Amino acid sequence: MPERRFHEPVLLTETIAMLRPVTGKTYLDATLGGGGHAEAILEASAPAGRLVGLDRDPQAIQFAGQRLARFGDRVELLNTNFAEIDRTSRLEQAHFDGALLDLGVSSAQVDDVVRGFSYRQDAPLDMRMGPRGEPARELLSRAAPSTLEQIIRDYGEERHARRIAKAIVREREREPINTTNRLRAIVESAVPASSHQLKSVARVFQAIRIAVNDELTALKSGLKQIERRLNADARLVVIAYHSLEDRVVKRYFRELAADCECPPDLPVCRCDKVSEADVLTPRPIRPTEAEVAANPRARSARLRAIERRRQVADQT
Ligand SMILES: C[S@@+](CC[C@H](N)C(=O)[O-])C[C@H]1O[C@@H](n2cnc3c(N)ncnc32)[C@H](O)[C@@H]1O
Repeated sequence: MPERRFHEPVLLTETIAMLRPVTGKTYLDATLGGGGHAEAILEASAPAGRLVGLDRDPQAIQFAGQRLARFGDRVELLNTNFAEIDRTSRLEQAHFDGALLDLGVSSAQVDDVVRGFSYRQDAPLDMRMGPRGEPARELLSRAAPSTLEQIIRDYGEERHARRIAKAIVREREREPINTTNRLRAIVESAVPASSHQLKSVARVFQAIRIAVNDELTALKSGLKQIERRLNADARLVVIAYHSLEDRVVKRYFRELAADCECPPDLPVCRCDKVSEADVLTPRPIRPTEAEVAANPRARSARLRAIERRRQVADQT
């Protein structure tokens, strides 16, 4: 790994204030990255707080492993997708007194030229967060035109999705789309020339990345698996970086907090639903101007948190 910092943790003070780590408890960092949040959780829960750290990227596990080595057996790191917690034998019995999901990619991943996340530098079009799955170039070479359009529209919220999908299909017939520069040039050629062209490129790159890593499916599934493993009064903190992720988190938290799921036209409540959690953030917490000035990648961050209710946790 290069000497520069692996990743600057975002909303660090706010995350620790929300999680309130204490000694003797066990915390989950499901998106370890460079281990910045994990380190702060371990420091705040000294001398005997424990941390389980997950990441689908083996490089993150390796880097964070070195960074957190000084905490000895208070730390356990696993190279796994948080959507596979229930299938990870090591976590079969695991329960947590607090959990963090700091979504998306780390700076190290974006800045690592060979991984092809960034449209700012030419690289092989890969975009996988871990070694498993299909690289972006393969997705672009086989996906049906309608699928490409849907990915770009749904995950990129890009209004020129159809034109861009058509351009991708036309260009891949001439020659495979194997590099970030080529994809960027195709997008630029497909949308009207304007100052917004680069925004379309960014949205397409985001969309392809989300599809390659199946990020929204993983988020929906991971949230459920983690929530079921929270002890009474445990808090779950999620930091999202775009509106699609944030919407999933907001809806899920609202669902958990609701004490009725009857259709709205039913005059009286007939369901047995009980509220499973309290939402601690009616509005998401955003980074301060000072944080954004120091770390522009924090700009779009939105933190939401819930606290698991005691009576529900006691029954599980
Ligand atoms: C924004 S970074 C986390 C940074 C970290 N909080 C820190 O302080 O350095 C997000 C990390 O989550 C990982 N990640 C994203 N989705 C994942 C998933 N479904 N399962 C496991 N790790 C995931 C990425 O590989 C990346 O390393």
